[in-house]
Amino acid sequence: MPATLHFPTAVYCEPLQKIGLKRINSEIATECDQLCDFDDAGREWSEKNYPGGYTSYASMNQLHRFSSTFETLERKLAKHVKAYSKILDFDLKGREVYMSDCWVNMMPPGTTHGLHLHPQSFISGTYYVQTPADCPGIKFEDPRLDRFMAAPPRKAKTSPANETFVTYPAVAGNVVLFESWLRHEVPANQSDEERISISFNYAWR
Ligand code: NI
Repeated sequence: MPATLHFPTAVYCEPLQKIGLKRINSEIATECDQLCDFDDAGREWSEKNYPGGYTSYASMNQLHRFSSTFETLERKLAKHVKAYSKILDFDLKGREVYMSDCWVNMMPPGTTHGLHLHPQSFISGTYYVQTPADCPGIKFEDPRLDRFMAAPPRKAKTSPANETFVTYPAVAGNVVLFESWLRHEVPANQSDEERISISFNYAWR
């Protein structure tokens, strides 16, 4: 090929581990229910900012520090973050990578999460806990979209590298990692059941 691809955007997707995902997910789901019952401030915030659903994003966003279930999840995620950092060629010698935030997202049918990015971190991601059939995936947007003003539209079928939007299906037990500047959204949950995911950010020092 006479052209070389530069400046790629890497999205990472792997199962958290090979076995025991059902048990972990049922433990996390139970804890999410308890959290939702307990977190008055979070439910109030969600009413305005996450209509129909519950997120602990603005109220309890360091769950890995307060719950052994989430601490265990943090430990299991660490190796994925390490592998992803390696793919991105980050020089982490003498530097510490740490989870800065970790929160719960509970999306009943109809709830949407609009386009956003994750400031003040460098790697972000989601772990899927409960993903009913036909629930939405996570949809990423080409970060260069605002520079395509005069470009013709893309063909309906492009190579994966040239897609303008890419959706990763939500699969319980899967970890999806992306660079925090990459805009994404979760379209409305059109399934009949609640979708549960855990989101997190990583920073370095
Ligand atoms: Ni997000």
